[in-house]
Amino acid sequence: MNHQKILVLDFGSQVTQLIARRVRECGVFCEILPCDVDPQRIKDYGASGIVLSGSHQSAYEESTDKAPALVFELGIPVLGICYGMQTMAMQLGGKVEAGTVREFGHAQIRAHGHTRLFDGLQDETNEQGHGLLNVWMSHGDKVTELPPNFKLMASTPSCPIAGMADEARGFYAVQFHPEVTHTKKGKDILARFVREICGCKGDWSMPSFVDEAVERIRAQVGTDEVILGLSGGVDSSVAAALIHKAIGDQLTCVFVDHGLLRYKEGEQVMETFAKHLGVRVVHVNATEEFMGQLKGVTDPEAKRKIIGKAFVDVFQREAGTRANARWLAQGTIYPDVIESAGAKTGKATSIKSHHNVGGLPDTLNLKLLEPLRDLFKDEVRKLGVELGLDPEMVYRHPFPGPGLGVRILGEVKAEYAEILQRADAVFIEELRNTKATAKDAAAELCTEDQVGKSWYDLTSQAFAVFLPVKSVGVMGDGRTYEYVVAIRAVQTQDFMTAHWAHLPYSLLGRVSNRIINEVKGVNRVVYDVSGKPPATIEWE
Ligand code: XMP
Repeated sequence: MNHQKILVLDFGSQVTQLIARRVRECGVFCEILPCDVDPQRIKDYGASGIVLSGSHQSAYEESTDKAPALVFELGIPVLGICYGMQTMAMQLGGKVEAGTVREFGHAQIRAHGHTRLFDGLQDETNEQGHGLLNVWMSHGDKVTELPPNFKLMASTPSCPIAGMADEARGFYAVQFHPEVTHTKKGKDILARFVREICGCKGDWSMPSFVDEAVERIRAQVGTDEVILGLSGGVDSSVAAALIHKAIGDQLTCVFVDHGLLRYKEGEQVMETFAKHLGVRVVHVNATEEFMGQLKGVTDPEAKRKIIGKAFVDVFQREAGTRANARWLAQGTIYPDVIESAGAKTGKATSIKSHHNVGGLPDTLNLKLLEPLRDLFKDEVRKLGVELGLDPEMVYRHPFPGPGLGVRILGEVKAEYAEILQRADAVFIEELRNTKATAKDAAAELCTEDQVGKSWYDLTSQAFAVFLPVKSVGVMGDGRTYEYVVAIRAVQTQDFMTAHWAHLPYSLLGRVSNRIINEVKGVNRVVYDVSGKPPATIEWE
């Protein structure tokens, strides 16, 4: 890659990934490596600047991680954030001590002097005319003595050294977190560092990524054949569109349809890829095989295992018929890469534990092609739109690998799947078509600036769940005895914790009416008002 790059050394903070994302938003390519990586790798990386991340560790303890000494000898700018500032201070001759109070949350810092990092950047001015920045802090320890040649760059009443700089060497450090959105000028500060102080042009963009990725894929696979398991999800879809753009018919996609997808999703996948983009897709309708294996199974984990294994079996069978295939393409994305690198070194930056159906075994004897492994999820979405995929599909809520298999409680049956698909489609359609109003904002269901957005966009995940219990109802003159459907909508940042969405009653009422009137077999709809924890997002 011919772009200037920034390297983030990760000391294990929960928000390290955000640093890389903010830097990339400035048009500068950026990657994360564990802080204890071989220093030669840092040297070979050829970064224009280095950022040292935060951490839960204490810099003054002997056993803690330090930045390789080489970082301060490469002659390139370095920005320390939180723990990154503390280790920089310790390693360059300053002092760090345990604070008496933990500072967590909003803080207002005063910028001292005019360093290049803060010059002209301020949220407010105090009575003496000093610039103030509203920032987000999370630390216990603090720097108590500046290293030689450093000057004070920022302070708060409880943290007198909240920023320091040795401008001659291009070393800057801040105690607060510029990477989180609560720090109002955070993105400007990072842009100042990478664009002006490190001198990066900011020429990394999605269109240039497409051209370069296409070249890379062509060079990598030559005239070989590639196979890819298309799941209908965003990552595999974008990978398919990108690889197809690079090598056309050398790519064959295998779409394993387990019959547990969303309403008409199988048709949509074929329409998008086979018809619209001209991708060669083998549509394997394996519904009967999956349903057969799931017959009589009620345990959620057993169901997951069966679906995962059946998926691999079907894919492997199809792959076996393509004797010329040398490559297996996968939609691995950057957070997966960081997670496994972190897991190896013990510096995990993420604690997500779900794995998708489709972790394919090595026995396929194929080389791996992973063209999205440098991209974050939001970048994958932008790439999808750039490649001509429907934005509605690319920005869809996440969908679990085992599909409706975990949304039909207990035994999975084709009849239940059909009811669920229809009920779910009604719910999603109403969410997409209903915009938040000023009345919703007045009732505190949403904020003022969310008015006009659809409730689909205002929720992180929404779906229907099939409950295999029957309840009594009355329709016309007759008594009914039919199934119950639960609807669930949650709002979350990271899917580790979630709130149930406070949807307007009018919307819930419409969804309930429509499901009961339009979906045969259902006479009762309930709304799930449980948060995570203690409930999970999915019901199984
Ligand atoms: P839970 O139910 O654990 O879900 O609160 C958190 C997020 O993970 C998704 N999920 C899965 N995704 N395979 C997946 O690929 C699975 O087995 C699985 N189980 C849950 C869920 O949809 C939510 O987004």
